[in-house]
Amino acid sequence: MSGFSGRRAIVTGAAGGIGSAVIAALTNAGVTVAGLDLDTPALSETERSLGIKMHKITVDLSSVDDTRRAVGAACESLGGSADVIVNAAGVYELAPALKVEQSDWDLNQNINLRSSFFVAQTAIACRSDDSVPMSIVNVSSTGALRSGTGDAALSYGASKAGLLGLTISMATEWADRNVRANCVIPGVIDTSMVRIMDDPAAGQAWLDQRVPMKRLGRPEEVAKVVCFLASDDASYVTGASLVVDGGYLCA
Ligand SMILES: NC(=O)c1ccc[n+]([C@@H]2O[C@H](COP(=O)([O-])OP(=O)(O)OC[C@H]3O[C@@H](n4cnc5c(N)ncnc54)[C@H](O)[C@@H]3O)[C@@H](O)[C@H]2O)c1
Repeated sequence: MSGFSGRRAIVTGAAGGIGSAVIAALTNAGVTVAGLDLDTPALSETERSLGIKMHKITVDLSSVDDTRRAVGAACESLGGSADVIVNAAGVYELAPALKVEQSDWDLNQNINLRSSFFVAQTAIACRSDDSVPMSIVNVSSTGALRSGTGDAALSYGASKAGLLGLTISMATEWADRNVRANCVIPGVIDTSMVRIMDDPAAGQAWLDQRVPMKRLGRPEEVAKVVCFLASDDASYVTGASLVVDGGYLCA
């Protein structure tokens, strides 16, 4: 991947499965990373288990004020504004459609959708020099496009569909600031968010029936696509969504 060396990145969901795989890939490519997450001990554990150094910033992305504070703190500790933003924090708050409460709805929308906007908006406000390209990668989900694994994920799916629209608006609004914005659309990826393998036999049967590649995706497989979109190799790609799902949406 080109254009990464010496760049600075902010990654949310830094202690999670996909976020930490993204951080591993970015740091290996020479990017300095600020990792943001709610879970402070898990941030330290991520750093230790990956054998890397990152700027660790605890944040509650359900609060816009705290999001703005944390992104400002990230730019300060990175020594300048970020060139790469990866919005990988997420929650998977489930409730059957007729039983969705405001609290379920708000949690999914506020973290999966709203925080992605305020992270990016604050990061752009920290920018003083638009000559260096900036790239935003939002992590959506196949749940945006199909109701999936049998979970009661209506409000999650709505938040991830919103992220597709938000990405297009970001790409349009901020192109003249030398900012690109794209999405990845992961299918079912092997992280703690995914519950289908709690019953391994039923989980494999579901994969055999629904996913042409008949297996879960690995976080590293999503991270590689995120890094491509974030890098200068994708310099004319903006407003796009790249599906990483082993064929799930095709079948
Ligand atoms: N795993 C999958 O199958 C899958 C599929 C499609 C999309 N995704 C999306 O990928 C992203 C990463 O998910 P993952 O699978 O790595 O899950 P994960 O649970 O491992 O990681 C999510 C991270 O977000 C953090 N987070 C949650 N609430 C937060 C808050 N209020 N403030 C700050 N951080 C908070 C968590 O602490 C966690 O570290 C999510 O947006 C998720 O919706 C995952």
